[in-house]
Amino acid sequence: MVVQEKIDKAVAVLRRGGLVAFPTETVYGLGADASNPEALEKIFVAKQRPADHPLIVHIAEASAMAIWAREVSATAEKLAAAFWPGPLTLILKKAPGVLDKITGGQDTVGIRVPEHPVAQALLTAFGQGVAAPSANRFGRISPTTALAVDEELEDTVDYILEGGQCAVGVESTIVDVSGEHPVILRPGMITAQQIAAVLQEPVHTATAKAPRVSGSMESHYAPETPTELMSSQQIPSFVEEITLMDLPLAILSYSHPPMKCVGIEWIAMPKEAKQYAHDLYHALREIDKMKLKRLVVEQVPAGDEWDAVRDRLQRASR
Ligand code: TXA
Ligand code: MG
Repeated sequence: MVVQEKIDKAVAVLRRGGLVAFPTETVYGLGADASNPEALEKIFVAKQRPADHPLIVHIAEASAMAIWAREVSATAEKLAAAFWPGPLTLILKKAPGVLDKITGGQDTVGIRVPEHPVAQALLTAFGQGVAAPSANRFGRISPTTALAVDEELEDTVDYILEGGQCAVGVESTIVDVSGEHPVILRPGMITAQQIAAVLQEPVHTATAKAPRVSGSMESHYAPETPTELMSSQQIPSFVEEITLMDLPLAILSYSHPPMKCVGIEWIAMPKEAKQYAHDLYHALREIDKMKLKRLVVEQVPAGDEWDAVRDRLQRASR
């Protein structure tokens, strides 16, 4: 099928209330018609996701924000102009009529304009909002390839649009602009500094216990392999003292040259934050397939370009 036929097929699935997995530049989403409650219910069933976890509405362009939000503040306009299409989700006061299945019963709604050309083509052709969480089972690692979507959701999804490996590789930055001051609810590749620079005001980051963001639940983004973080300095002595009881294990390291030994899968990660984020979920999925006893992850550097990766690694290791 040529691309347009695939988009047409995906639109037909959405129109009849089915589920379409589609690529975005962050991770793959599991999409449903945002105005169809039965279709939205299928998302929760497929993901085994609790009903009070809100969904992001994906739209083709920022002008459609006003359909979903009753109040589009100057802050929201500025961020949309600076970062959309792109890996940013805005939380706004919801418009009347936005379904409870989307908002989780809250007074706010999450909105995003993705940049990936396949997502753009789908949203433009559908012409309406598409509600989509990441296309993984609840609590698991988000998929960054169509194959990973298939492994996660198998026959619970009606159609999967292919779009290669996601360029960003971790979920969008979520900024709550529904209150007086903007608050980052989930770090992503668009950093707090970049947001503060656009707004010309400091931006706070929510504490780990921020309400109602499933991404801030403790066990979120977790691989199946028991995972722990270790400082760069500790790793060489750890490797020296490994016992047979620990093996087989994997070590995910960006700074050390591979310390090869039987029973250790050494995964060399990129030294640069963007490339590291791009590779991370794929690496964690591959490690899970190896059925190892543990995964040791080298702590990543300080610096806000690493915030998203550091956040996901902390959650993975709980
Ligand atoms: O990059 C992304 O954001 C991907 C792609 C597919 O767009 N989507 C994604 O969706 O990560 P999901 O559902 O896995 O994570 C979205 C997060 C959830 O933690 C949800 O609780 C939060 O956004 N969220 C959505 N609406 C919200 C709202 N009104 N208030 C607070 N948090 C909200
Ligand atoms: Mg998710």
